[in-house]
Amino acid sequence: MTETTILTGRVLSFDGTPFDDTPTEAARFDSAVVLAGGQIVARGTVADLCAAYPQAKRHDHGDKVICAGFVDPHVHYPQTAMIASWGKRLIDWLNSYTFPEEMRFADPAYAARIAARYLDLTTAEGTTTMCSFCTIHPESVEAFFTEAQKRGQRVVAGKTCMDRNAPDGLRDTAQSGYDDSKALLQRWHGVDRLSYAITPRFSPTSSPEQLEAMGALWAEHPDCLMQTHLSEQTDEIAWVKELFPQARDYLDTYEQFGLLGANGLYGHAIHLEPRERDRLREVGAALVHCPTSNTFIGSGLFDMTGLMAEGHRIGLATDTGGGSSFSMLRTMAAAYEIGQLRGTPLHAAQLLWLATAGSAQALGMADRIGNIAPGMEADLVVLDLSSTPAIAQRAAEAGDIWEAVFPTLMMGDDRAVAEVWIGGRRAKGD
Ligand code: GUN
Ligand code: ZN
Repeated sequence: MTETTILTGRVLSFDGTPFDDTPTEAARFDSAVVLAGGQIVARGTVADLCAAYPQAKRHDHGDKVICAGFVDPHVHYPQTAMIASWGKRLIDWLNSYTFPEEMRFADPAYAARIAARYLDLTTAEGTTTMCSFCTIHPESVEAFFTEAQKRGQRVVAGKTCMDRNAPDGLRDTAQSGYDDSKALLQRWHGVDRLSYAITPRFSPTSSPEQLEAMGALWAEHPDCLMQTHLSEQTDEIAWVKELFPQARDYLDTYEQFGLLGANGLYGHAIHLEPRERDRLREVGAALVHCPTSNTFIGSGLFDMTGLMAEGHRIGLATDTGGGSSFSMLRTMAAAYEIGQLRGTPLHAAQLLWLATAGSAQALGMADRIGNIAPGMEADLVVLDLSSTPAIAQRAAEAGDIWEAVFPTLMMGDDRAVAEVWIGGRRAKGD
């Protein structure tokens, strides 16, 4: 018999998008949620749900907030062991720190160790789904999917393809990138909760032939996501202009090879030309804002409010390890700070929506994850709004739920994440 579980607390879900109207109107609060068979089966009042599910095992969380597990739509799990490396900007940072570390993933045992470490660290932070770049080594993809499958997690990942401007030992070819990606896709895509993403790293590290091969693979498997990087730093954009003199702009280096579409995920997207903004919106592509990365590597200030107003689909991500954190709470704080620098502060409801439903939408998975509603998968976090003395004294003065939540978004860390549920099973908490 399937076990039924009731969690009580302040259950936060979204019936709409807090960027459309008054931010708080999209949010809904219930006092209980019921899980069974790995899914959410009901949300409502404690009295109603206890009466409807008398056999359910009950977990009381008092005034803690229960929300969907965090969704992180742009990460590099292989950069776990070099996160927070000092003093370089994008291209030097890649060459000095990132590529040497990624080289180590030729060893399947090392890849398995880091995949487990990464998923331990992110579970502690309340992230239940992520979309990860791996390395050029198929072993790095095997390791990540194997570990996520063991834990019952919904994850997306792909073999990073690069056939130029990377060191010896860290390049594939147009043909081997295509062949290896295709074999991995056929082996893993749609197995349990795993999905494959076609993954050209970015235009500077792929020849036109490789981009063309990636475009051909995507055309053969259009239901797969395609993830890459776009217009992160001005030096990078100037380099792309040199490498692709015929291209109209950075986006065109993807577009001309069939790498622009609704299932495309474009990380960073900071310094966009008007044509790029128009095309990305026209095709319904997803942009991924990576705020701790953008400040840490010194990239620039993403235009969240402007792009949202134009109707773009946008997710919020850590970009571990260009990003300086594994935590989506810390990432929400950084998104708020970038909003402030642009004169457009984000509301707590908008930040929480971005870290859950918004990022799930970016992955095309909003019907399964990123919200609490009947029929959705049971990935949840329980947030303690008084996890440290500094946060508690601030929350104690709050006039409403949003004032109570906001200090945790700004100052919280893994101590604020009291429990994590993945696929209806408790992955953190006692
Ligand atoms: N652009 C190409 N590769 C990377 C990467 O690994 N991290 C970031 N932040 N930007 C990139
Ligand atoms: Zn990245």
